[in-house]
Amino acid sequence: MTKTATTAADFLPARRDLPDLAAASRSCRGCGLFSDATQTVFGAGPATARLMFVGEQPGDREDLAGEPFIGPAGKLLDRALMEGGVDREPVYVTNAVKHFKFVRGERGARRIHKTPSRTEVVACRPWLVAELQAIDPEVLVLLGATAAKSLLGPSFTLTAHRGEVLSLPADVAPAGVDPQVVVTVHPSSVLRGPSEARAESFASLVADLRFAAGLLDR
Ligand code: URA
Ligand code: SF4
Repeated sequence: MTKTATTAADFLPARRDLPDLAAASRSCRGCGLFSDATQTVFGAGPATARLMFVGEQPGDREDLAGEPFIGPAGKLLDRALMEGGVDREPVYVTNAVKHFKFVRGERGARRIHKTPSRTEVVACRPWLVAELQAIDPEVLVLLGATAAKSLLGPSFTLTAHRGEVLSLPADVAPAGVDPQVVVTVHPSSVLRGPSEARAESFASLVADLRFAAGLLDR
């Protein structure tokens, strides 16, 4: 009988630098999400990044391209970073879950984003923790509830903690890694929100990103 994997931990390589991790992640079967997606979408950016962003999971465009945050949410994040005066180059971006979860729309044409389950988020977390270990960022920005709950616990409420500097709980932080943690909304929530609220939610995202980048100078 073949055992079904329930964690990415079984697929982590012995060597844990970013290229090794990215290569090994391509054959992860740590949860069921690999089966319908095109490919693993690992994080992107330099290992020397001082600022690291975590989103939820790749979207349709990211799934096809194999790169995180290149679709509409990524474009919005780029705009917010630019507006906040944050340089995109030295930043590392990744997701809490590395495969696209979706349902088919009517007649199977469109693939519609589906929020990953707690089980899937926990199964995928070893990749995220290994990325944290490899990068050791000074500031970690968690974009949206899925990323926040992955690292800060299932009962964490994002809105109650915006504008605060948090730290990683000891049970998820890799040894010696202790970034200043900031939570904010997911860029997709700005896109999905009612149009009259969009300017305001975009501005609040920009303010949170500016706050996070400001922590780098401390
Ligand atoms: N949304 C995310 O959370 N991550 C991506 O990479 C793209 C969209
Ligand atoms: Fe592995 Fe994560 Fe993909 Fe699940 S979502 S198969 S744990 S990489």
